[in-house]
Amino acid sequence: MGNLAIISDLHVDINKFGEAELMILWEVLQQKKITRLHLAGDTANKVDRCLAVVDFFANKGLPTTFHFGNHELADITGEAMMAHFPDPHFLNERYLALNDQTVLLGMNGWYDYRFSELEEEDAIVRMKRLYWYDRLIQREGTDLEVNGRLLYSAGKILDSLAGKGLEVILSTHFVPKREFIVYQTAPYERWNKLNAFLGSESFGELLDRYDNIKQVVFGHTHRRFEDKIINHTIYSCRPFGYYYEWQLTRAFVRENRLIESYDPMKLRVLLRAHHPAFSEYQKAHLHEEFEQAMTMVPY
Ligand SMILES: [Fe+2]
Ligand SMILES: [Fe+2]
Repeated sequence: MGNLAIISDLHVDINKFGEAELMILWEVLQQKKITRLHLAGDTANKVDRCLAVVDFFANKGLPTTFHFGNHELADITGEAMMAHFPDPHFLNERYLALNDQTVLLGMNGWYDYRFSELEEEDAIVRMKRLYWYDRLIQREGTDLEVNGRLLYSAGKILDSLAGKGLEVILSTHFVPKREFIVYQTAPYERWNKLNAFLGSESFGELLDRYDNIKQVVFGHTHRRFEDKIINHTIYSCRPFGYYYEWQLTRAFVRENRLIESYDPMKLRVLLRAHHPAFSEYQKAHLHEEFEQAMTMVPY
């Protein structure tokens, strides 16, 4: 018996995390009696930073695995490296035994544009080139082709696991279910088009075909949700996200009455202006933020 923790979107470089912050996370993991850690992508923009986080926990004696999110993929050249990155902790299109009946399966994942309000593929591609971080990622083929390869490899692995009668905990970076897509109203409806890059509904439909998938954990949305049960599978989404999106940051702004109305877009400047105070507040409350942003799976 053990306790798996899955964490996505740590973004250690954007969040300016060093050893001190990772030590706070390590304390949380110890308190929760976590026996295995899996990082579900967007751990860092740079692969070296991502690997350093993995090594930090592995060197503490905690079995640790990871797959990539879109942020790491922008720092990697070639489909082979993206799918089979040569690191012993890398878990993509691969699974490991948690016990004699359950496996942890890792899939980086991708998107199929179906969550977008735009239907025309060319228009979505143009938006991606203009506005989206993932324009930096060099994939082989179109996004829909990449998604097609994902469906093929996931299907093969899931068929084989179903054949073996094994239960699956699946970790992926991108959103597999429409229930986790938030459609905005004016003046933010532009974002509804960018939902194209949040995840893959076809991947979610593939998952529906298997009744041995116990739980699916993902992130990428930078928005935390309550667990949802869809077709007898638990779906968990509670990414950690950027410092200006955290609950503790909202509380800091509220408690100090820093702004009249809460506008996340203006927060970075505001937090910089209140730097020493915010830094202290962060140190005092990071513990709780980590607790809220992890999914624990007993096995
Ligand atoms: Fe992220
Ligand atoms: Fe992401």
